[in-house]
Amino acid sequence: MGQKIILPGLIDPHVHLRDPGQTHKEDFLTGTSAALAGGYTTIFDMPNNAEPITTEERLNTKIASAQNQVVCDVGFHFGTLGDNFDEFEKVIDKVSGLKIYMNVTTGNFIINSDKLIEIYKAWPGTKPILLHAEDDVSDIVFKTLREIKTPTHICHVSSEAELTFVMKAKEEGLPITCGVTPHHLFLTDRDAEEKGAWAHMKPSLKTQKDQDFIWRHMDAVDIIESDHAPHTKAEKQGNPPPFGVPGLETTLPLMLTAEQKGKLSRQQLIDRLHTNPAKIFDVSVDKSTTIEVDMDEFEISNEKMLTKCGWSPFAGQRVVGEVQKVTIRGSIVFENGEVLVSPGSGKIIN
Ligand code: DOR
Ligand code: ZN
Repeated sequence: MGQKIILPGLIDPHVHLRDPGQTHKEDFLTGTSAALAGGYTTIFDMPNNAEPITTEERLNTKIASAQNQVVCDVGFHFGTLGDNFDEFEKVIDKVSGLKIYMNVTTGNFIINSDKLIEIYKAWPGTKPILLHAEDDVSDIVFKTLREIKTPTHICHVSSEAELTFVMKAKEEGLPITCGVTPHHLFLTDRDAEEKGAWAHMKPSLKTQKDQDFIWRHMDAVDIIESDHAPHTKAEKQGNPPPFGVPGLETTLPLMLTAEQKGKLSRQQLIDRLHTNPAKIFDVSVDKSTTIEVDMDEFEISNEKMLTKCGWSPFAGQRVVGEVQKVTIRGSIVFENGEVLVSPGSGKIIN
């Protein structure tokens, strides 16, 4: 065994655990087990389930399903298509944010951008709004944020144009943060051509120039978010394949490998995988929630994955940073590839 490092438990504000409704892809137990294997102790689940989480009743059903399955801490983002404002007050204390889809992706759960301002007015500004907002809708986002100052997190920024928009909004003092996914940091449109469906996601992979721009402006990136979006191998081989790739088990090793190559510092890594997501999504941090990581090289392998989908676009890649042990509030919950606690021992947070 090589050098070991200790890091604080990682926090991912952007995962899709598919439960309820599409538990053939992932469920709360397999998804949170994958989280632990990847060094995450707190994750936030997105609302684009088969039946989108747009009512208190659906949210309650989801929380009930999570309660007896999760093995790490899990919070939830609420959803909207602009027609459920009555639900907002009812769920505000049970969720961590409101996710709005402004571009096409899995679930076709997309608003008409004319509705954005109305939604901002209706959402209690005490919890952030998360936007799937690609380049084409940046003007409307700008306009809305100038009018209503609800903290807004732009998910999975993928291009020079999108990051430039975020940088401009920050310069103007607007309450904006952004996340970048590992697939946009380590894959480009050339991989999309080579890997086909296995690298098919939204936003799509961009050019080397876009990727270089994001790496050069890492200071403007608040969070590295996995956008863990599992689909089965059979589904990915279908026509058309669904959008999305899993990411919970590969994000930390990819980032630690990038650190070793001098692409970012240890402090930048910890800020983006722990400190900033804790701040932005109001996660109370426990000093005895830590992960132990082995810095020997290893190969990413589909066989070892705990995610139910059982594949990764990064399989075969040699990286450093295998998670050996995860401790939550002083108790060891994961060690040497195995979850040590029973389903339901994780905490539901808001
Ligand atoms: O590629 C993606 N997959 N992008 C999204 O925005 C959603 C996700 C999913 O749920 O599969
Ligand atoms: Zn997503």
